[in-house]
Amino acid sequence: MFKKLAIGAAFALALAPASTFAAGGGEQHIEDFDFSFEGPFGTWDQNQLQRGLQIYTEVCAACHGLRYIPLRTLEDLGYSEEQVITYAADNFEVFDPELDDFRPAIPTDHFPANNGVGAPDLSLMAKARAGFHGPYGLGINQLVKGMGGAEYIASLLDGYTGHEKEEAGTILYENTAFPGGWISMAPPLSDEQVDFADGHSNSVEHMSEDVAAFLMWTAEPKMMDRKNAGFVGVLFLTVLSVLLYLVNKRLWAPHKGKARKD
Ligand code: HEC
Repeated sequence: MFKKLAIGAAFALALAPASTFAAGGGEQHIEDFDFSFEGPFGTWDQNQLQRGLQIYTEVCAACHGLRYIPLRTLEDLGYSEEQVITYAADNFEVFDPELDDFRPAIPTDHFPANNGVGAPDLSLMAKARAGFHGPYGLGINQLVKGMGGAEYIASLLDGYTGHEKEEAGTILYENTAFPGGWISMAPPLSDEQVDFADGHSNSVEHMSEDVAAFLMWTAEPKMMDRKNAGFVGVLFLTVLSVLLYLVNKRLWAPHKGKARKD
């Protein structure tokens, strides 16, 4: 039994590096972007999320859906109810079974799904991917740097080398962040593609960061509430520990004093 296990383990170890690197050829490169929402006290940068939404709407929505995200939640990004109504109606159509036809979207609808070109839904992508794995796939970097889902998306969008090749009728684009090094999504962003009302830089790198931050929000819209709850919890436990320590000291004080005298 043990021998079998040992042989199995040795076999798995021998295979692991081969299967991890066979497809790639190159090392995956994930840039450690400095996002405002990182760390225990990080918060969303609302302007950044609004720019990200604009990039998603003008560029990514052509291929990718966000089907788990209700349009009404855009009010959390600082838009008024009227703005959300206009945004929904102007940008999306949804199929209404009652009308048996398409109609303009309203805030209670979700962003539509998009299965046209086989592009994955982006609602939860920032939580479905991890940017940091190492060292040796142990994930220890994640303790320091976080999961890195947003970093992965930003690095992916900014990671095209410009090389392409055709394989079995599909054009693949070389990308330094994509596992395997070749992705079938053409570089979606180019410099100055989207114009921002706040005049923010629209270089590929900055737009990649903005849309990645927005996708982090879609994947975890309640992140700030979670952090606040965690902070309150830690504070409460700290105060409780101090009180318990003092109570403990006071309760035992008479007995301890006696013991020493004896
Ligand atoms: C022309 C269509 C098209 C557009 C526009 C597009 N994508 Fe994609 N995207 C794809 C396809 C197809 C895939 C699947 C690629 C693959 O698995 O090889 C993909 C995959 C992805 C992935 C998943 C990569 C992974 O790890 O599996 C992410 C993230 C992504 N796109 C983000 C974006 C963002 C953000 C935008 C907008 C800036 C965008 N895409 C615009 C077609 C598109």
